[in-house]
Amino acid sequence: MIKISPSILSCDYGKMADELKNMENCGAELMHIDVMDGHFVPNITLGAPVCKCIKKYTSVPFDVHLMISEPLKYVDDFAKAGADIICFHTESDSDISETIEAITSKGVQAALAIKPKTPAEAVLPYLNKISMVLVMTVEPGFGGQSFMEDMMPKVRFIRDEIKKRNLDVDIEVDGGINKDTISIAAKSGANVFVSGSALFGAADRKKTMDDFKKKANEAFTD
Ligand code: DX5
Ligand code: ZN
Repeated sequence: MIKISPSILSCDYGKMADELKNMENCGAELMHIDVMDGHFVPNITLGAPVCKCIKKYTSVPFDVHLMISEPLKYVDDFAKAGADIICFHTESDSDISETIEAITSKGVQAALAIKPKTPAEAVLPYLNKISMVLVMTVEPGFGGQSFMEDMMPKVRFIRDEIKKRNLDVDIEVDGGINKDTISIAAKSGANVFVSGSALFGAADRKKTMDDFKKKANEAFTD
């Protein structure tokens, strides 16, 4: 199933509640919450207290992307803050199996992310235990960067492996998704699309959301 996950990194932080409601009304299937610690990536955003606070303004499930060095330490906080999916990086300092176990034992879905320089093979040992793989299509840290098309072979490789194992695992792409790149990613086998600047910056967000979904549905290749 095609899902759009607006990245609140690009929202107006002064009126987050309204921004979330707006994206819900535009038809967002997920809400992508970018958490950065200024250590794993060179930028700082928000933590579990903010996540908890904004959770009550929307019923759209929270897709929490942890770009932090020690995700295991914070699983409990984000689970309590209302995360529906907790996504962490294979490149973090936490033990991967232990972190997946900590997330799923809280009744939260676990997802694994890989940075551009990390090979697709890094997620293979965990594919049966997670609900989603996030293939970064920019270096994590900032919105508004250009889509790295050379990440597409990784998406295709992971999609083929999911099929081979007959699993129900989503593939999310994050970074530089817009009306042109969404088709490229969907054709490669991605079905969850994070969009920050292209969606929040659109003159007509609803129209852009509809257009994204149409293009992704047309191009998606299993
Ligand atoms: C980047 C974040 C992304 C970012 C995407 O590190 O993980 O979620 O907000 O923003 P755009 O869509 O502007 O590339
Ligand atoms: Zn993200």
